[in-house]
Amino acid sequence: MAELRFDGRVAVITGAGGGLGRSYALLLASRGAKVVVNDLGGTFDGTGASETAAQKVVDEIKAMGGEAVPNYDSVSEWESAQKIVQTAIDAFGKVDILINNAGILRDKSLIKMEIEDYRKVMAVHLDGTFFCTKAAFPFMRENNYGRIVSTASAAGVYGNFGQTNYGAAKMGIVGLMNCVKQEGAKYNILANTLVPVAGTRMTQTVLPPNIVEKLKPEYVAPIVAWMVSEQCDVSGNIFTAGGGYFSRAAVVEGPGVFFDTDAGDITPEMIMEKLDEIKNMAGAQEFGSATEQTGKALSHMKFD
Ligand code: NAI
Repeated sequence: MAELRFDGRVAVITGAGGGLGRSYALLLASRGAKVVVNDLGGTFDGTGASETAAQKVVDEIKAMGGEAVPNYDSVSEWESAQKIVQTAIDAFGKVDILINNAGILRDKSLIKMEIEDYRKVMAVHLDGTFFCTKAAFPFMRENNYGRIVSTASAAGVYGNFGQTNYGAAKMGIVGLMNCVKQEGAKYNILANTLVPVAGTRMTQTVLPPNIVEKLKPEYVAPIVAWMVSEQCDVSGNIFTAGGGYFSRAAVVEGPGVFFDTDAGDITPEMIMEKLDEIKNMAGAQEFGSATEQTGKALSHMKFD
């Protein structure tokens, strides 16, 4: 297998001052990419700011002979997200790769969650992913090339106690990427989503130390490298990675049942009678777009 390389490619990686983002930055830079290391440098719950985190990773990359510049802006505002992307344009003239990785946590049960905890988490994860993607997209379109990876979480895809804010933002990112996939298709812009698990300062708060230590971010980075490479051949996919485990997750739909709407009203009792079939997931399928799914729903109907 030929070595995966990023020579001549420019990558913007948000939240790359530590944890998972740092491991992506080091891997891509070690294989020839020029990297914008973005990090606001605050605490894991999104307070404060510091230039140290991003600068340290830039220093690491330079020390191994790579090319990188720091950026300390927040992903969570439209103006500052534009500055992150502009840093790539100013330093390297383009942006080929965007990894939306920046994140914070404010876990609380729904009852105890302050509105500010909800808003702040949505702002960093969902708004931040939207803003950075919107800022990078025109430059990618101009070059007819783009690779976008955004970061979801099992907490959003499958649910987790105490993470209504985080789970909503993370599953929102899946919806966002499903649509970016459509808009990027004709410009060779691929948009995929990652569901990682790794021992970082974020998971230090919830996982025991022996697990945190073994779940190295470096076990996630290789699939991210493929997802942002020229060799990547999928868009709108979700990949899970962590602790040496790699898989693809997907939203699928069962075969379902069709009622003849010309035969009369559909009652709740008719639904309850057919629940086993409605719930059945054997033979479930994926859809490439909302149009495809609606096409199936309407496939048995006759229109004038
Ligand atoms: P981390 O806390 O080590 O890294 C997140 C980085 O984002 C930090 O360096 C932080 O300073 C930066 N950041 C926070 N707010 C920012 C903002 N507004 N603008 C720019 N940078 C900002 O945590 P980790 O684990 O590396 O997380 C990376 C991503 O992976 C996050 O999106 C997280 O939600 C996601 N994730 C991580 C999992 C894990 O097991 N570690 C599990 C599922 C998802």
